Amino acid sequence: IEDPKFDISDPNVLSILNEAVDLLKKDKVIAMPTETVYGLAACAISAQGVNQIFSVKNRPPDNPLIVHISSLKMLRSLLPTKKNGEIGEIPEIYEPIIKKFWPGPLTILVPKSILIPSEITCNLSTVAVRFPSHPIARALISLCGFPLAAPSANTSGKPSPTLASHVLTDLNGKIPLIIDGGQCNFGVESTVFDAIGSYGPVILRPGGITYEALSSMPGMENLRVYKKDFVDKKLEIDPTTPGMKYRHYSPNAEVILVDVDDNNKSREIMEKEIKRIRKNGKITIGLLATRTSYTMSEGENETIESTNIARLDGSDTRLSRNIIEYTLGDSTHPEQIAKELFKGLRYLDEHNVDYIIVEGISEEEEGLAVMNRLRKAASRIISE
Ligand code: TXA
Ligand code: MG
Repeated sequence: IEDPKFDISDPNVLSILNEAVDLLKKDKVIAMPTETVYGLAACAISAQGVNQIFSVKNRPPDNPLIVHISSLKMLRSLLPTKKNGEIGEIPEIYEPIIKKFWPGPLTILVPKSILIPSEITCNLSTVAVRFPSHPIARALISLCGFPLAAPSANTSGKPSPTLASHVLTDLNGKIPLIIDGGQCNFGVESTVFDAIGSYGPVILRPGGITYEALSSMPGMENLRVYKKDFVDKKLEIDPTTPGMKYRHYSPNAEVILVDVDDNNKSREIMEKEIKRIRKNGKITIGLLATRTSYTMSEGENETIESTNIARLDGSDTRLSRNIIEYTLGDSTHPEQIAKELFKGLRYLDEHNVDYIIVEGISEEEEGLAVMNRLRKAASRIISE
């Protein structure tokens, strides 16, 4: 279903969605597009469906899942009921935030009811909930009439899928259906946000909704987040988001992150790294660079003939003798970089590079989510 403005009354679209609903009702897992990354969905109120998610992805059992809803009514039904038996209420602090950012790439933590199987929350007392804006995801959840648990639809440890073909690469033969909705718009996962913890509001995972946007909301003056220069000691010792402790987003190649603010200096370091690695013999290197940022030095140009081999949508790829370059986008537009990031990592992996050298970007706006993912993917970070 390539057209994001698809018409749910279109018989072709409806028959695909109905097929998905039937599978989900039978506790099968399927892949669906969302505005962030592809999700691996199962009925969130069935332990059997949820268990399958863990086995298909090979996900560690102590990393909890996000529950996806298609209405606030559905969210209320997942909250603990009040003592008088009335339906639960959404914590007040979230109200303006939900109004502003939902549906969209923001996940909030709320108290969990007994309806949610403990497999989803890994025995935590909160459940992570998100109201996606993608029309296919929304339609699918409302047609089901129950919420969908969905982690990213990759094998655990791999970069999240932003194209249906990425899901197929990881999960071919393991799930009965992938709904193809084209390339995901944000390209990094949702922001995981906790406003009900005892230490005040905190971003547990930076994502599609930026720190800048959230911190300008009422009551969010002291919003905390992980950054390079601001490592919260409490979070470091006791990661509240269990997923944070695992190695993530890693392609097969070894990722080297060049995290230097000065553009010229970062270029210099990248070239030095290429030379250093090549001393070890015939090795193929992938470069993930921002537009105009990486140009070969003169000496390098004499020995490496660059040939244009492909132009992917929105990104240039250049193949030199042993260097494959994938341009992520304009570094002053971090949203472009975010959209291309996982696609670029997977593209270079498909070309069997031995190393991927990535140019870091500033942690402003979507850049924070990009750098968070890159730090987890990298086996080495060069910062000066
Ligand atoms: O954009 C997204 O969020 C995508 C799409 C498919 O919606 N989903 C996604 O799910 O990224 P996943 O499973 O890859 O990441 C879920 C994150 C993990 O870091 C997990 O630890 C955290 O959310 N999480 C889930 N429940 C939590 C809870 N109760 N407390 C703290 N962290 C939680
Ligand atoms: Mg994931």
